[in-house]
Amino acid sequence: MKKIGVLTSGGDSPGMNPAIRAVVRKAIFEGLEVYGISQGYKGLIEGNIQKLEVGSVGDIIQRGGTMLQSARCEEFKTEEGQDKGIEQLKKHGIEALVVIGGDGSYQGAIKLTKKGFPCIGIPGTIDNDIPGTDYTLGFNTALHTVIDAIDRIRDTASSHERTFIVEVMGRDAGDIALWSGLAGGAETILIPEADESFDDIIARLHQGNERGKKHSIIVVAEGVMSGNELAEKLKEKSGVETRVTVLGHIQRGGSPSAFDRVLGSRFGGYAVDLLLQGRGGRAVGIQKNELVDYDILEVLGKEHHIDMNMYKLSKELSI
Ligand code: F6P
Repeated sequence: MKKIGVLTSGGDSPGMNPAIRAVVRKAIFEGLEVYGISQGYKGLIEGNIQKLEVGSVGDIIQRGGTMLQSARCEEFKTEEGQDKGIEQLKKHGIEALVVIGGDGSYQGAIKLTKKGFPCIGIPGTIDNDIPGTDYTLGFNTALHTVIDAIDRIRDTASSHERTFIVEVMGRDAGDIALWSGLAGGAETILIPEADESFDDIIARLHQGNERGKKHSIIVVAEGVMSGNELAEKLKEKSGVETRVTVLGHIQRGGSPSAFDRVLGSRFGGYAVDLLLQGRGGRAVGIQKNELVDYDILEVLGKEHHIDMNMYKLSKELSI
């Protein structure tokens, strides 16, 4: 193998830059040429491809976002789009591709792999919802951002004796809500993986009031419902007045945490190792702090599981 490509796709996440840097530098260290594809699969179809050198990835380890930029690309979901992508890769003599992204990006990498073009998947999404890895790149940084916000909201909630609803991202997964809710001491955490009735939510608020608690934080994952919808329903069912904060895309930005920088570096280096061993069609991950790899096709059949023991604990601690 002489030439490899790297792209980032889907929602960006802090940690993508350290991963790109690691792929580029490790590959060059091993005597390979590396090509950066800008704007994900869209850029691949359009042939937006440039050779990267050691210096091309200087001064990016501390930056959020992705120096290669990202995009969501409908055309790449079609066979025609995928063939155009492969054509571009072949035109540049690229023999394998490292794809850094979330669920949709993996779908693309699987399609390419099935067509005989070897890809390696690196899990990059704040949602932490890729099966086969304990952590995805960006999840840790996003948590720090959310916790910082919750701490600030708690200050004003306490001053005004208010109930606040904080809506967090995660798509269909509740990891951001659960981890940030536990770390931020939220009184109620609503995640798509667990049903919680309005009666329970209201009972918990009353229970808190009875023991003299005058403010309260509810963290709701976007996969459950929007913060505003929750506020309206709570008002309707119990008369409880709340304030809503939707954290939105703030969660996707910012300098990657030390954890995400190290994770991105480890994932990137490992991806190149796999290619050097001639092992394409793999997804990399981390399990119990060990780097692992598995057939990228397995991502399709597996489900992401949230830690329900942690959910149970969060309820026990917020009595
Ligand atoms: O997958 C990452 C993510 O930030 C999700 O948490 C969120 O639902 C989605 O992307 C938002 O996507 P977009 O930036 O395209 O609106």
